[in-house]
Amino acid sequence: MIAAMNSCADQLVENLNSFATTKESFDAKEVTAAYSMDVTARTIFGAEVNSQQDPQNPVIVHAKRAFNPNFNNPLMWLWMVFPNIAKPLFETFNYHPFTTRDVTDFFYGVMEQLLAMKKTDGGKGRVDLLQIMIDAHQESDDGSTSGPKVVGKRQPLTRDDIVGNGIGFFSGAFETVSITMSFALYHLALDQEVQDRARQEIREVAGSEGEVGYEAVQKMSYLEMCIMETLRLYPLVSNIQRVANEEARLKWITVPKGMRVMVPAIAIHYDPARWNEPRKFNPERFTKEEREKRNPMDWLPFGVGPRNCIGMRLALLELKVGLARALMKYRFVTGPETVPVKLNKWKTFPTPMEPIRLRVEPVD
Ligand code: HEM
Repeated sequence: MIAAMNSCADQLVENLNSFATTKESFDAKEVTAAYSMDVTARTIFGAEVNSQQDPQNPVIVHAKRAFNPNFNNPLMWLWMVFPNIAKPLFETFNYHPFTTRDVTDFFYGVMEQLLAMKKTDGGKGRVDLLQIMIDAHQESDDGSTSGPKVVGKRQPLTRDDIVGNGIGFFSGAFETVSITMSFALYHLALDQEVQDRARQEIREVAGSEGEVGYEAVQKMSYLEMCIMETLRLYPLVSNIQRVANEEARLKWITVPKGMRVMVPAIAIHYDPARWNEPRKFNPERFTKEEREKRNPMDWLPFGVGPRNCIGMRLALLELKVGLARALMKYRFVTGPETVPVKLNKWKTFPTPMEPIRLRVEPVD
């Protein structure tokens, strides 16, 4: 997938180049969202899209619709407030207020095309998640998909599993990566010393232009520290949720079976008892030595345990490739239009009240 990421990063660099030429400021989130959308479409659905040049591409249009729930829809509120009544009722009519029928039909269509291609060429050369799931799919003897064969203890994926997971991956991947990348660029623009150090490391391991390889990315430990610190300050999921599947005793509290438990990741990330000057951006907190000294539960941006983020490695790779390719050639700076970030508390994901506006300059 690193090749796909690099080819999406080519477009990112081209976009930055146009801002460097005109010397205009740009909305960091718009630029990182285009990169993230391209990488996500490529790595999950194997679709080559160019969201900056071709925003009407059907994959982009349907993906955006799938992940932009319309809160003005009264049926959505019915579904959220009275799930016990609304869910079975909606299921009877094959309706879901979050994902409309035409969106799921579109992704079923994509999957059917891939299944057909797999029959002719075996899916050769494709390395996206959809293809990986299709490889794990097995038709029943009669060719239907409703009752897949059980092989030993492993149950092959059905068509519904594939499409459902494809849409789930997409929603987990797109916004999370672009938001993290935009906040990272903001802090690198504010702290030129940190940015220079990250660039120096990138150039040492990957040169000053062209693709970055997998091995080089693994050596970018300072860049990784910058990303980890960004994720500490802006965790995408502020509260990790679990349901106790058995009664548990935690010091003086008994959590009964079935109770919903919320772990406030954001409060832990800003807790002065765990983090010195918690509001300060300081990648040094993530040196190997510092990490070894710390309780691993103090940093929870990807959750924890068997249901933690399944896309963590993919996300870190995508962030490192995008940031490395951008920093290799450009210096990110603030301008008169850059305002200090203040988060909008009404948004689910960390979202600044005002867009993060930055400028870029070429570096030698
Ligand atoms: C910076 C980027 C990302 C962040 C911060 C992030 C964060 C998270 C968090 C906090 C959870 C819940 C974990 C828990 O409850 O313990 C989660 C779950 C999940 N994430 Fe991510 N994520 C990111 C990128 C991605 C990507 C790129 C993918 C796509 C492959 C992805 C797919 C998922 C899925 C499918 C789940 C549900 C896993 C399950 O329920 O077993 N995420 N993510």
